[in-house]
Amino acid sequence: MSGKSIVTAIPEEVGRLYDRFGEECLDLGAAEEASNFGFGEHLHFGYWETPDEDISLDIAAIRLTDMVIDRLKVDHTHHVLDIGCGVGGPALRMARRTGARVTGISVSQDQITEAVAVGESGDLAGRVDFRLADALDLPFPDDSFDAAFALESVIHMPDRRRVLQEISRVLRPGGRLVLTDFFERAPIPAVKLPVVKRLLEGSMMTTVKVENYPPMLRDVGFMFEEIVDISAHTTRRTFMEMSKVWTRANPDFDLEDVNTLPDPCPGMVDVEGFGYLLLVARRT
Ligand SMILES: C[S@@+](CC[C@H](N)C(=O)[O-])C[C@H]1O[C@@H](n2cnc3c(N)ncnc32)[C@H](O)[C@@H]1O
Repeated sequence: MSGKSIVTAIPEEVGRLYDRFGEECLDLGAAEEASNFGFGEHLHFGYWETPDEDISLDIAAIRLTDMVIDRLKVDHTHHVLDIGCGVGGPALRMARRTGARVTGISVSQDQITEAVAVGESGDLAGRVDFRLADALDLPFPDDSFDAAFALESVIHMPDRRRVLQEISRVLRPGGRLVLTDFFERAPIPAVKLPVVKRLLEGSMMTTVKVENYPPMLRDVGFMFEEIVDISAHTTRRTFMEMSKVWTRANPDFDLEDVNTLPDPCPGMVDVEGFGYLLLVARRT
């Protein structure tokens, strides 16, 4: 889908999309607003050990954040860049668990305002900072970070090579990068193509071909370390949990044909070709 997609994902528009996401949570009412559609402060897919594991999306999302933190292997001597930081949940957890200093960037002004408020009010003040910035044009000097992570943010950057090049530039040699991304896991059945297209275009996202990653990383100065397909632990349950929130807020829709509902999540639950990967690389 990456090559054929018409998604352009202009950073400012992606920023407004996330500003609107906050407003949609307000529309859903107090309970959903407080939990950001069930995500909590970690705005990405959850990780469940088994298909039926009895944990909620917010807890499963924190688990995926922890998997990223563990792979980054940083400590209190390090300065970490969080690319596409959302409302700051992963950056705060990174700082708390490792002692590292963390700088988060996002293209959503509302997210940055929220993240700054939380960062300044807690015990991590001075160890975390957040700013409005575009990952495709990072406002930092060369070699200025010891490590970087991008939790479900490069999905909004159709030009993966360009963002990897920018991250490579601001990372010191030896610095590690951990990211998650959507990939083309298997051919999507024709009946599912419209719902996948609606999901991707509606959220200004693209998927990649996994085999493109190793050469692309090498070209921009990374040594590729690990790519893991974690789809079986992430996608189905996340779409199920998001669908529950949507159907609670929209009880009048007929759930017979999930592929035509205004929200694509119910139709995405059984799309096994929609993959989710976790990647680790090191700056050479
Ligand atoms: C799915 S959210 C993930 C948020 C956060 N990583 C988390 O896990 O909680 C995607 C994030 O990527 C950010 N983003 C998208 N395109 C960006 C760009 N070009 N530069 C910086 N941030 C970007 C969005 O603003 C949003 O914060």
